Amino acid sequence: MQLLDGKALSDLIKSQIKEKVSQRVIDGKKQPHLAAILVGNDGGSETYVGSKIRSCEEIGYKSTLLRFEDTITEAELLDQIKKVNANSDIDGLIVQLPLPKHISVEKVIESTDPEKDVDGFHPVNIGRMVQGLPCFLPATPNGIMKILEHYKIDTAGKECVVIGRSDIVGTPVSILMSRNTNPGNATVTLCHSKTKNLKEHVLNADIIISATGKPNSVTADMVKDGAVVIDVGTTRVPDASKKNGFRLSGDVDFVNVSPKCSYITPVPGGVGPMTIASLMLNTLQAASNKD
Ligand code: GUN
Repeated sequence: MQLLDGKALSDLIKSQIKEKVSQRVIDGKKQPHLAAILVGNDGGSETYVGSKIRSCEEIGYKSTLLRFEDTITEAELLDQIKKVNANSDIDGLIVQLPLPKHISVEKVIESTDPEKDVDGFHPVNIGRMVQGLPCFLPATPNGIMKILEHYKIDTAGKECVVIGRSDIVGTPVSILMSRNTNPGNATVTLCHSKTKNLKEHVLNADIIISATGKPNSVTADMVKDGAVVIDVGTTRVPDASKKNGFRLSGDVDFVNVSPKCSYITPVPGGVGPMTIASLMLNTLQAASNKD
């Protein structure tokens, strides 16, 4: 069993980006600039946005964090997005999800300029992804593809089972894995809450990608010997032994599943850091598109 070290790969990608940014500055080109909108005080969202802003600082990007109370109205938020769209110094914009219930995620995503949509959530970018056209790929799915590419994992013709059909991870990664690309070219089964015989599907998989946020839901009896397991789960579970009172749990029962795998991502330190590296790559692309 080999661990897929997303943290190390993310550090490598970020150091490569840092060099490119230094070269951009030497060449008189603009520093990439990422804006992040954070609404409310969700603990997970604060952590993720904090990591994104810190990564910008590490690699030489400008960043702007726009924070709003969860009482902000939808109209006010859409107005803020309009201002970011109109600000020519800002190359990329992310609005951290989830948003409060009174705000339409669809309206927020559709109001983001597709050319600044470094999360790859806008219908224009999703449509271009489906057609294999140049676009911003969503960060977590692209991070998964980069792990598979870096570790030279053979995906062509393999049975890939994706568990979870979210707009952010499950659905787009199922598309990327089935495209005629490398990595890709897998035979993909997308399982979800209405799937019958989940275990039967998963047992058939050479590559399992779980993105449900249900701790320990992928158990050893569901995994065939030699499978590649990608665990996208990062659920906070109470843990009195930790100073912040919780630990992050993946979807996979790591202790019992990992001995059966050829490769597996740990949580933390697997897919999570790669999400940030992918976002940083998209932001560099957004800035370069304007050169
Ligand atoms: N919430 C969970 N994942 C993501 C992500 O990739 N981008 C944003 N904006 N919000 C998220």
